[in-house]
Amino acid sequence: MRLAHVSDLHFGAIEPGRPDALRRALEQVAPDLLVVSGDLSQRGTEVEMKEAMEFLKTLSQPQFIVPGNHDIPHGHHLWARFKQTWRTYRKVVAVDLEPVWQNDEVAIIGANSVRAGGWYLDWSRGHLSREQLRRIAACCEQLPEQLLRVLVVHHPPAAPPQGTRRHLLDRRKRFFSALNDVGVDLVMCGHFHMSYAVPLMLPGNLRRACVLSVASTATSYRLEGEPNGFHVIDVPATKNRMDIQAWQWEEQRGAFRPASQWSFQRHVWRHWTVTRERLA
Ligand SMILES: [Fe+2]
Ligand SMILES: [Fe+2]
Repeated sequence: MRLAHVSDLHFGAIEPGRPDALRRALEQVAPDLLVVSGDLSQRGTEVEMKEAMEFLKTLSQPQFIVPGNHDIPHGHHLWARFKQTWRTYRKVVAVDLEPVWQNDEVAIIGANSVRAGGWYLDWSRGHLSREQLRRIAACCEQLPEQLLRVLVVHHPPAAPPQGTRRHLLDRRKRFFSALNDVGVDLVMCGHFHMSYAVPLMLPGNLRRACVLSVASTATSYRLEGEPNGFHVIDVPATKNRMDIQAWQWEEQRGAFRPASQWSFQRHVWRHWTVTRERLA
């Protein structure tokens, strides 16, 4: 099973030509499913979201999309932001903010970590409520044991090795505990515009870690010190191994190319460790 993990397209703040280059790279990669972990647009406008969807429709792969904090009305439009938070997203992108996708190898559960605002200054922050965690648990309970369990959520619960000053997913303690209980194998995020893949320790009843894949922005000029990129995730049928390859934009060649690579191995109780890391 091959997944392509693309994030933070940010239509409205696009690097010219990058979407076409991404399309060419994805044709080469030929994933079974394309996962988009939020921030399709820059300011949550209908025009931007339509542009994003028009682009996604030109891709041949089936797609799985969750929203990001940029996919709701911008902070200057307070009324729309709080009263019609998901109106445009639901109209243009998808009615379902938390989709579920399943085949005979993987089950992918989407969770919406975006919040319109709160009693804090940075409204780009996100978290999952207890109810959302209960829903994830209920989804997992019904799954056959042999499926790889994947959660897609925009805000990362762990910082990149290279560091960040931005907020991680809030209320992490109960998030980790819930993931430990349900045996999630892989968490896919975006938001930081940085690429990394690490084992994610999940404090809880069992001593276990899952794999965290955080993809950079694939197509936006809003960079955080590294080029545009996306991840390719390969999982063999046995699901005891996972290979993640980061593809990066190479200015000289004018194309996306494989760069960093990580391999993970699964042990008893769905505990994952990293076995190989080759950083670009
Ligand atoms: Fe973003
Ligand atoms: Fe974001």
